[in-house]
Amino acid sequence: MKNLIAGNWKMNGDRAMIESFTHDLKSELAKTPDLTGERDLLLCVPHLYVSELASQLSSLSVTYGGQDCSAHEKGAYTGEVSASMLRDIGCSYVIVGHSERRAYHGESNTHIAEKAEAAHTQNLTTIICVGETEQQREMAQEEHVVGEQLMQAIPTTATAENTIIAYEPVWAIGTGKTATPEDVSKMHDFIREKLQEHVAQAEKIRILYGGSVKPENASDLLAIDNVNGALIGGASLKAEQFIAIARS
Ligand code: PGA
Repeated sequence: MKNLIAGNWKMNGDRAMIESFTHDLKSELAKTPDLTGERDLLLCVPHLYVSELASQLSSLSVTYGGQDCSAHEKGAYTGEVSASMLRDIGCSYVIVGHSERRAYHGESNTHIAEKAEAAHTQNLTTIICVGETEQQREMAQEEHVVGEQLMQAIPTTATAENTIIAYEPVWAIGTGKTATPEDVSKMHDFIREKLQEHVAQAEKIRILYGGSVKPENASDLLAIDNVNGALIGGASLKAEQFIAIARS
């Protein structure tokens, strides 16, 4: 399975940054031209910068994604962005159910499943995020929590082709703490088993790890069985770091 290296810029960046990032990304990729044959590269930047980034990187094999989408097709939903709009500006992926959406926007598993379904309807591949909080892990509830998130947030439209899971322990996001390789391995095996109960050909679904992935720890994380790529926040803001992770 080809690993997916996905950057999630969150609410960061501006036009000047797009320009310096694309300049640096081009020079990094020129050093390892085979990289995009070995890894799929995805950038999920703020929606309004996708077109600009895509036009600057048009000669390169990089794909684009949204960081969220509406569960609705269109209409009176001020501030929302639909899956078809993401398609229209050149996205082929969308992240749904990121822990920041769950925490700051009160998104439930059911709502996330509706968003994923709306995205599948527009032929977008969804990256459905799951992960436990620190407190839940301390209480040894991580498998229970993640199992429930998987069962409830994955819609019936999910297939091995249109669905990717990102395991992101909430306590590891943006904190510099990463789960140990043993913890990651155990959870990714558990996720694979759960997927097998739920989606046909689940062995083909990519399961990404996310949470303080850096060039320094990427090789160890990506070497784990059932880790099929990474979802990268902070380190994806610098092209050198993003590509260094992809080279791992
Ligand atoms: P981080 O974020 O790499 O900055 O920890 C990961 C994410 O939230 O996707």
